[in-house]
Amino acid sequence: MALKTMLKFSRGFRYQSLARTTQSFSTHDQDEGGWNRTRTKSSGNFTQVAGAAVAGVAGFCLYSYLNEPAVSAATKEETTLQAGEVKEGLPFYSLDEVRAHDDNEKRIWVTYKQGVYDITDFIPKHPGGGEKILMAAGASVDPFWASYGVHKNADILKMLETYRIGNLSEEDSKVSLHNVVDPYDSDPRRHPALQPRSLKPYNAETPLKILADNFFTPNDLFFVRNHLPVPEIDLASYEIEIEGVGVKSMKLNLEQLKKFPKYTVTSTVQCSGNRRSEMTKVKPVKGLDWGQAAIGNATWTGVRLRDVLLAAGLKDDQPGVEHVQFEGLDTDPSMHPYGASIPIEKAMDPKGDVLLAFEMNGEPLTRDHGYPVRVIVPGVTGARNVKWLGKVIVSGKESDSHWQQNDYKGFSPSTDWDTVDFSSAPAIQELPVISAICDPVQGDKVKPVDGKIPLRGYAWSGGGRKIVRVDVTWDQGKTWGVAKLEQESNKHPYHWGWTLWTLEVPVPPNAKKLEVWVKAVDSTYNTQPEGFANIWNLRGVLSNAYHRVTIDINTGKK
Ligand code: MTE
Repeated sequence: MALKTMLKFSRGFRYQSLARTTQSFSTHDQDEGGWNRTRTKSSGNFTQVAGAAVAGVAGFCLYSYLNEPAVSAATKEETTLQAGEVKEGLPFYSLDEVRAHDDNEKRIWVTYKQGVYDITDFIPKHPGGGEKILMAAGASVDPFWASYGVHKNADILKMLETYRIGNLSEEDSKVSLHNVVDPYDSDPRRHPALQPRSLKPYNAETPLKILADNFFTPNDLFFVRNHLPVPEIDLASYEIEIEGVGVKSMKLNLEQLKKFPKYTVTSTVQCSGNRRSEMTKVKPVKGLDWGQAAIGNATWTGVRLRDVLLAAGLKDDQPGVEHVQFEGLDTDPSMHPYGASIPIEKAMDPKGDVLLAFEMNGEPLTRDHGYPVRVIVPGVTGARNVKWLGKVIVSGKESDSHWQQNDYKGFSPSTDWDTVDFSSAPAIQELPVISAICDPVQGDKVKPVDGKIPLRGYAWSGGGRKIVRVDVTWDQGKTWGVAKLEQESNKHPYHWGWTLWTLEVPVPPNAKKLEVWVKAVDSTYNTQPEGFANIWNLRGVLSNAYHRVTIDINTGKK
């Protein structure tokens, strides 16, 4: 590999005892090379690749679907206790019998603690289906779930139990799972003020109350959305590979990249799942329980992707080119990198401002935000802003990554996990108009001054559409006040950064509570939907209905 990255992730899943009992795996050295060889093999004959690595993929794929749990009132403790325990009346299987179920012909089994599960019927429902899940073969998911802490999630365990077919023999269930190295060991330290939504992988929000304090979100408080462990990258050997249709393959290190003209762009990055926790109240969805702060605004400095691709020989009207794919250096246990793509029109638009960025708010990128280089795709959902950039591929096709094909897509409120066909929907690129009240937050007790309470928040729209108005109501829509806006003025046709807004709202005399709502209007006069019911979707993305907050009024009386 040209890029010498220390991928602890692969080391993390070397657990000796499972490998020892598996012939094909034990022929490999248990080093990173061994893991890589397993990867190479895995793209060939899946059924020959057995044992720990393959089991890992099964565990991981289940994980990547389940990692983002439905928020439900499941009887959590009860399920956690029962999952994986011996179930009376079910047959006992040996580890060898489980391992024999490592391909579709014999159905795919995995184990968790002393439970044996046939996950074959789960595969078509799995958003991360396809190659990776088809590699699933019989062995334990425990080491993976241990690393991710997912076993603590009752919804996942409950779902797993529905695929239960038997018990693992007492002897085999004692197979040691020692030597599991936590792949997240080398993740960076984070600011304690960040509000985590999951620890492994790390995902966290800026505290909502302070989000609108800064037009440029401080780097250490900027929300973090990681799907995998943060890669350790050695700058001395770091290179970005450029390849694909209409370009001559080349590699650029950071120094070479910095020779291209430098640009600084203000751009808001927002996760497609921002404000999911509100949609969840209509009906549970699968996904991290984001509040209103999976969004941040920063200046990004780097070089234009367009300039790099032109230097690689790409012509503006190159036939056969429709997308630009990006690969990160963060990888899953099968060594598949995080990946995403954007349409060629956006990538090559001279005013599209797609950057290969190395600075955030004037500082080198932090590890969580993509050090040393990430893609910034202004106006487009966060998922396409690939961090830890390793490869740029010019192609006729979209990225085939899970996150492009089987995630980050919107569906009808009537589509559920049994009926969803991810191939039927386009990948989310530009995001719809959104806004939120940041301060006060739900349940804050506020004393009115001169009968008024000051509110502030953010508004933003995808595709470079500027916010033209923010409306706030304090009486369920009978009266709307127009907020004062703070935004960058620019002559550029597109507006990539967010708008902060403030408004003082009147409090009726003797009111004990005040419910306030906000909605924003963008330059196409698109606005936000009133409620979540009719935009509900099973992944809880594009969650942009009016934001409603109830404030307790401090009347000064007892
Ligand atoms: N790039 C890589 N390589 N790996 C990732 O997990 N997450 C994406 C995107 N780029 C991700 C990635 C998602 S879903 C979002 S919302 C943004 O990064 C978040 O960027 P941030 O963590 O800098 O806020």
